[in-house]
Amino acid sequence: MSSKIVNLHSDRYKPIEVIGQGSYGIVMKCKDRLTNEVVAIKKITDSYFYMPEVLREFMIHKILNKHINVIRLLNIFRLKSYLYIVFPYMDYNMCQYINKYHPNGLGYDLTKGFMIQIINGIDYMHRNYVVHRDIKPENILIKKNGLIKICDLGISKMLCALSFKAEPIMTPDMGTIWYKAPEMLLGTQKYGPEIDIWSLGIVFIECTSGHPIITQETSIEQYQSIVKYFGVSIKDQKYLNRKIKKINKVVSIKYIRNSTLKNVSMALNNKFPQWPIDLIEIVSKCLEFIPSKRKTTKSLLKTSYFVNGPFLKSFRDNFNNIL
Ligand SMILES: Nc1ncnc2c1ncn2[C@@H]1O[C@H](COP(=O)(O)OP(=O)(O)O)[C@@H](O)[C@H]1O
Ligand SMILES: [Mg+2]
Repeated sequence: MSSKIVNLHSDRYKPIEVIGQGSYGIVMKCKDRLTNEVVAIKKITDSYFYMPEVLREFMIHKILNKHINVIRLLNIFRLKSYLYIVFPYMDYNMCQYINKYHPNGLGYDLTKGFMIQIINGIDYMHRNYVVHRDIKPENILIKKNGLIKICDLGISKMLCALSFKAEPIMTPDMGTIWYKAPEMLLGTQKYGPEIDIWSLGIVFIECTSGHPIITQETSIEQYQSIVKYFGVSIKDQKYLNRKIKKINKVVSIKYIRNSTLKNVSMALNNKFPQWPIDLIEIVSKCLEFIPSKRKTTKSLLKTSYFVNGPFLKSFRDNFNNIL
């Protein structure tokens, strides 16, 4: 990596290595000579062109800087035509962590300990009227001690209204399609926090099994595979198509029949017969086809999956230890 970058900022940040190649530029691991902390610096290579996203990331970080499970912005500076955003350094993103340590999935206990933190982070965002819009393993960071932080708020959107019900117009072409909710795949511009809940359901499956569940290349193929895989009823497909057509006037796609499967929990049961019932239940509640039927983060945190048994107590004890 070029040491030029550091010289430009009064030698405060000493580069160690490049750790990420994102959509807007590179992410570097650096040492902050002032505080002695190891940090991650996102260098936005084309700051002029991407300024709205960058400003949005900055503004959202200003608002969302008080939750342990959402990455905090430490510093931001502009040098020449580059913009640098400084964050606390995290050891892995979830993709790297799964590939390195758990290629066949994290197992039930670790999944639960990670998912509660991810849901807590998203709950904090939703309570502050921010939809992340790009929840996926690459945007979930992990520290060696098991602490999770959600990152990449660049395409998060702040809902300007006081309530999510106001549903402002939003751009649909963001994020990786494997984690996208059906309504986004169909191109709706009017969506809310429910899209993050869908992504959570997909991340749940990937954490537990080690693999993303549906991995198509185009939005339409992804949508069709979701319908085939989960056995969505024609009534539900019609409902969503109708809603989206009304908002967007986009010609919706044909209804797809699936005669063997009736719903998401049956599909998950078929694919993962060994999974405990409460896990199947919580994932199914994230993957409701109709957005309004999906659980909120608040109600997810109250499901038997988290609440029953000794999990919450031991999680809190462990969590207090790592902080
Ligand atoms: N604070 C951090 N600590 C360690 N790695 C990070 C950090 N922030 C980002 N990364 C790595 O860089 C990648 C890209 O960063 P991200 O903020 O998601 O930018 P992009 O918008 O380009 O996807 C992440 O997937 C992760 O692997
Ligand atoms: Mg990212």
